[in-house]
Amino acid sequence: MSEQHITWHPSQIGREDRCRLNKHKSCVLWLTGLSGSGKSTLAYEIEKELFNLNCRSYVLDGDNIRHGLNRNLGFSPEDRKENNRRIAETAKLFVDAGIVTVTAFISPYRADRDMARSIFGNGNFIEIYVKCSLGECERRDPKGLYKKAKAGEILEFTGISAPYEPPLRPEIIIESDRQPVSESVAQILDFLLFHNYIF
Ligand code: PPS
Repeated sequence: MSEQHITWHPSQIGREDRCRLNKHKSCVLWLTGLSGSGKSTLAYEIEKELFNLNCRSYVLDGDNIRHGLNRNLGFSPEDRKENNRRIAETAKLFVDAGIVTVTAFISPYRADRDMARSIFGNGNFIEIYVKCSLGECERRDPKGLYKKAKAGEILEFTGISAPYEPPLRPEIIIESDRQPVSESVAQILDFLLFHNYIF
């Protein structure tokens, strides 16, 4: 590694300049939760609502990113860690570009989410626990993955044969098995308004 021989080039335009241009602040909304808990649905609804409010936003979604940037990663603890690290670094670039960035990854390990949090400055990382009982996720099973995991056709499946560690102090908890999506979106937008990310 030649890390000693690389130099950081500062930009003449900073994040604050871009946020002034956008007329809103940027941050990452880090959604975490079981497969089938509703992360992607919620992420794309938030993106749409922010767009309608003239805010620049973008979704980084687990399934999608695993088609490209992270296509070489599987679901071992090490690969999930690297998956989450790359997403955090990518989201950091988006946030620096002035964009409200919504990430939708299971991100099952507390240590990996804490590592992601540490990559961002204070106040830029909003952890959102999309809470949904395993029973409800299994009932929904939108991609038929729980069925396959229980039949032993998918190994290391979160909630069945791999762990999910719920956040201890998330900024927001969404109870996706108890509240409609519209209420969850409103809850998140209220948070952004209250904390002056958007106006
Ligand atoms: S992680 O844990 O953050 O690295 O996972 P993520 O990148 O979000 O990818 C989760 C999606 O991959 C599909 N899938 C699996 N999920 C969990 N465990 C195993 N073994 C697995 N194999 C494939 C699944 O479609 C997940 O999407 P969501 O949207 O969460 O259901």
